[in-house]
Amino acid sequence: MCQITIHSENGVQAVPAEPGQLLGEVLREYLTAFAMPCAGNHTCGKCKVRIDGAVSAPDEAELRLLSEAERAAGVRLACGCRIEGDVTVTLHEAGASKIVSWYETPAFAHTENGYGFAVDIGTTTVALQLIDRESGKVLAERLAENAQRGYGADVISRIEACKEQGVSVLSNRIADQLEAMAAECLREAGIAAVSESVVTGNATMLHIYEGLDPFSLAVVPFDVQSYFGCMSRRTLAGAPVYLPRCVGAYVGADIVCAVLAAGLLDGGVQLLADIGTNGEMALAKDGRLLCCSTAAGPAFEGAGLSCGMPAAPGAVRAVKLENGVATYETVNGEPARGICGSGILDALAVMLETEATDDTGYLEADWPVGSSGLTVTQKDVRQIQLAKSAVCAGLLTLMEAEGLNASEVQRFVIAGGFGSTMNFDSAKAIGLFPAALRERTAFVGNGALGGACMLLMNHPLREKSEQLAQEATELSLSTSASFMDYYVDCMSFMEF
Ligand code: FES
Repeated sequence: MCQITIHSENGVQAVPAEPGQLLGEVLREYLTAFAMPCAGNHTCGKCKVRIDGAVSAPDEAELRLLSEAERAAGVRLACGCRIEGDVTVTLHEAGASKIVSWYETPAFAHTENGYGFAVDIGTTTVALQLIDRESGKVLAERLAENAQRGYGADVISRIEACKEQGVSVLSNRIADQLEAMAAECLREAGIAAVSESVVTGNATMLHIYEGLDPFSLAVVPFDVQSYFGCMSRRTLAGAPVYLPRCVGAYVGADIVCAVLAAGLLDGGVQLLADIGTNGEMALAKDGRLLCCSTAAGPAFEGAGLSCGMPAAPGAVRAVKLENGVATYETVNGEPARGICGSGILDALAVMLETEATDDTGYLEADWPVGSSGLTVTQKDVRQIQLAKSAVCAGLLTLMEAEGLNASEVQRFVIAGGFGSTMNFDSAKAIGLFPAALRERTAFVGNGALGGACMLLMNHPLREKSEQLAQEATELSLSTSASFMDYYVDCMSFMEF
């Protein structure tokens, strides 16, 4: 048995490991916040750690993904080195952040009393709030990276991991994370117990939380094991948990909650985009709801980029041009450690304005983000290009299905953490959304969490949300010829 001594922002921890074991597996087991976005496939280069001790020699993938300076400093890919003796590991990145979640909801009656948790399990980020159900006051809250992120950045990697490791491994990991976050909140608020909780999320996250095999979600015809809209088999802090209903395999309970929080069915033609690792969208017209989901990838959440990170302290969150020079701002004004979704969007808008790149996204050399020491690479530009094209093509396909164009949409609601921090002018400049929507745009923040709070405080709304999910139509983009045409057209970085 070997000893692994881990230095992280949480202090020093010594854990056992078998000779020959992959270091990434050990870190994933003991550190819930340790990220392996490509699930250890040696393609993302994001699992870098500094190592001192006996490990296997770097393979070809590591040599490709690490610079000479990094190798000289003892940096390795945790998914690439096997343990051969005692090792000391230093982690570079802070794992969890305590940035709170923001959202808006329409006025609604509070029919319940006592305390409860509202939870949104995002593929990348988990948000939890302890709420006084009578007053609606948020008593404590936590936002952390999903503890399953060591099993890949997107839902497909998580489903694969469930197949390989067993659903219970990932299921217990998220359940344990929620229990730990809930316990912290109860301690902070000085409250002994809650009456009930509402846990929302996309269909994959809810399947895994419930311990249901999510494999059918990944293969044609994309069947769910459950739509939910029921009580969970789990409890949270010892109290029952309600799971809102999903529309289908790729339009989850999170979008249903966001529709509720955005008041999307309150009248007129309204469009909602919730941009996370999946771009989920809904169009309300004449009381009908048409929804779709596109695989935007995690780039807008800061994952999958060469220097990407969540919107935590030290993340470049805004970039602008001042007297012809690119300047930047970071979260909390801390030294730049990486770039988050809103920052990369701004960076691209500035790169287009200064002609560092053109509408094809071609980049002659890595682009320095001001004096931050960070750069945007050609691969980063391509990641954003694919993500923005998927989102924009999804919106256009939804509108086309209802015979609408952008100028006929009366209200365009953007939800999601990225949505509430991004600069719409940058989004418009790179062609993320049709420019005609600019004047009618509203931001609701984390609509999924907002909707979960509404369902926590008002039981009759649960029936309404279940009916809404049951009656909504899911538009399959994978078989849509229009979507493919738009997807190709939307690749260009240009306003339209
Ligand atoms: S390169 Fe190690 S997890 Fe992606």
